[in-house]
Amino acid sequence: AEDGYRLWQRYDLVQDAAKLSAYRQAIGELVVTGDSPTIAAVRKELQSGLNGLLGQAVKVSQAPGQSPALVAGTPASSAFIKNTGITDRLKPLGDEGYLLLSTQQNGRSYTLIAANSDIGVLYGSFHFLRLLQTNQDISKLSLSSKPKIRHRVLNHWDNLDRTVERGYSGFSLWDWHRLPDYIDQRYIDYARANASIGINGTVLTNVNANALVLTADYIAKVAALADAFRPYGLKVYLTARFSAPIEIGGLKTADPQEPQVQAWWKEKSDEIYKAIPDFGGFLVKANSEGQPGPQNYGRNHAEGANMLADAVAPYGGIVMWRAFVYDDKEPDDRAKQAYNEFKPLDGTFRDNVLVQVKNGAIDFQPREPFHPLFGAMPKTPLMMEFQITQEYLGQGTSLAYLSPMYKETLDADTHAKGKGSTVAKDIDGTLHKHSLTGIAGVANIGTDRNWTGHHFGQANWYSFGRLAWDHSLSSEEIADEWVRMTFTNTLAFVKPVKEIMLGSHETVVNYMTPLGLHHIMAWDHHYGPGPWIKDKHRADWTSVYYHKADENGIGFDRTKTGSNAVAQYFPPVAKQFGNLKQVPEKYLLWFHHVGWDYKVKSGRTLWDELCYRYSDGVKGVQQMQQIWDSMQEQVDEERFQHVKTFLNMQEKEAKWWRDACLLYFQTFSKRPIPQDLEKPA
Ligand code: GCU
Repeated sequence: AEDGYRLWQRYDLVQDAAKLSAYRQAIGELVVTGDSPTIAAVRKELQSGLNGLLGQAVKVSQAPGQSPALVAGTPASSAFIKNTGITDRLKPLGDEGYLLLSTQQNGRSYTLIAANSDIGVLYGSFHFLRLLQTNQDISKLSLSSKPKIRHRVLNHWDNLDRTVERGYSGFSLWDWHRLPDYIDQRYIDYARANASIGINGTVLTNVNANALVLTADYIAKVAALADAFRPYGLKVYLTARFSAPIEIGGLKTADPQEPQVQAWWKEKSDEIYKAIPDFGGFLVKANSEGQPGPQNYGRNHAEGANMLADAVAPYGGIVMWRAFVYDDKEPDDRAKQAYNEFKPLDGTFRDNVLVQVKNGAIDFQPREPFHPLFGAMPKTPLMMEFQITQEYLGQGTSLAYLSPMYKETLDADTHAKGKGSTVAKDIDGTLHKHSLTGIAGVANIGTDRNWTGHHFGQANWYSFGRLAWDHSLSSEEIADEWVRMTFTNTLAFVKPVKEIMLGSHETVVNYMTPLGLHHIMAWDHHYGPGPWIKDKHRADWTSVYYHKADENGIGFDRTKTGSNAVAQYFPPVAKQFGNLKQVPEKYLLWFHHVGWDYKVKSGRTLWDELCYRYSDGVKGVQQMQQIWDSMQEQVDEERFQHVKTFLNMQEKEAKWWRDACLLYFQTFSKRPIPQDLEKPA
């Protein structure tokens, strides 16, 4: 059934007859050298991939023989590859890169998938299969690739009871009850999917951590997962609850300056590494939203992080310490807190610590300006944290292709070292010369048959991985690959569906939070609108705090006359964002409180513009529906109906957002909704 289980790894017969015959011709036989578990995975993947795509059993040989062959291996495992003289071309590709090369030897044609390491061969093999899946020419290959970022990890917010915080696609994949004995095929398929896009790490547990995962029983279960993932180059990491020494260690304190606490973490790390020699390390959320941390003992984030870093350092482990902090004291502007707490600590973290920063300073909003910490901590490697799961983006029912959103942040210019100091350059280490680099994505994966709930959620997992490997790829290229692999190469489908995808994020922004509005979702669960929320718990957990609508206007003044959060950016950026005339309109109400009659770029008043944006959002969904409806002939019934139904839900949601927000904001603006727009229901 076309239920989406295979993700983008569909190896169905190539439909283009000319391409099919060219591929069959070029791959007369398959030679995969070596005998590691990774190479066994390569052999299996290429064999099943080619059998499916070419529609015939591919001949598997030990060494290249008479026919044109596909040869995969390293110079160390294959004399043939070594003798082609490509060793020098491989050197700069490091331990994960690969080379795909068409070459002639003794008058015969060969296609090489070569790398310095077995993992490189695996990545190259997936790339090669992608070329076939997307019907590319493989006759004159000469391409090499290596990742720009070293640690490319998923963050699962999975609890030990298998619920998933902010998960909208079923329950956690990790079946703790049946582990360590039972290895579900799904774990292998999960690892395959990740390897196919270059993801090389996975944090198994929620950042709101449960210390139990660090007990012996769970370590054995985690080790079983690590064993299953290892052939695919996927390392496991765990979240470390800072108070674990008290909760499971029987100590009276978790103070990082206490020798017994340090010793406890060292012993715990020894125990973990004994079971999992290549354990990746810890991810920590500390002193944020009620989580314990070093500040409970009067210590700072670096002192906390360094203690853990010292415990895993002997094994090459790393600590990813999150900068998403907000505490129990009400700030004058929550957007400023991470910068204020972390910037002064620059230079005080151990070498194996990464500070993991969300793309924006509030919280995974449909659109945020880039986080001011990027560029601002030259002595500390900063890691990007994106959210793949759509907590604030309509959750499981909305089609929102997030690559354009990721790119918007990655391409943003921090001006840290002059023009061109993009966020991407900070996290890939080129800006401040770091070799320890990382990027994380909060996973949208669960036990749903199609993994991500919405079929198009798969595209977000896919594009996160592709951008983690190479942030210079365009959203369009990534969508193109994904659509071809996931659905079909038929242009009559590929083109319109890409159009749906590329416009979808802007559409969602329009009907939820246009013009820089943010955090006006319903309270706590964050699904649907709730701009009126004001009386819960504390000011910065309410919506009115963020939009500040009143009779004069709307928006959060983060300039000098307000919270001055804008001053956290480097001067050219601060100047631009802080200036009402220069701020990009998409961030207008993020930084400015603007009068209802203020004239925006379109020439309309702010109020009218807001009305048009919300209604554009609804129209955008209706356009997606129209396009999708016209695709019925090009796609299987099962996925067609699924997406159609979800788009119908999204249309309802969009209208709900538009009507709720406009009617609510109208109580302040006291202005009519422009005549030519559909009236709120
Ligand atoms: C958001 C989210 C929480 C999560 C937090 C975090 O606030 O709503 O569920 O725990 O981010 O990233 O730590």
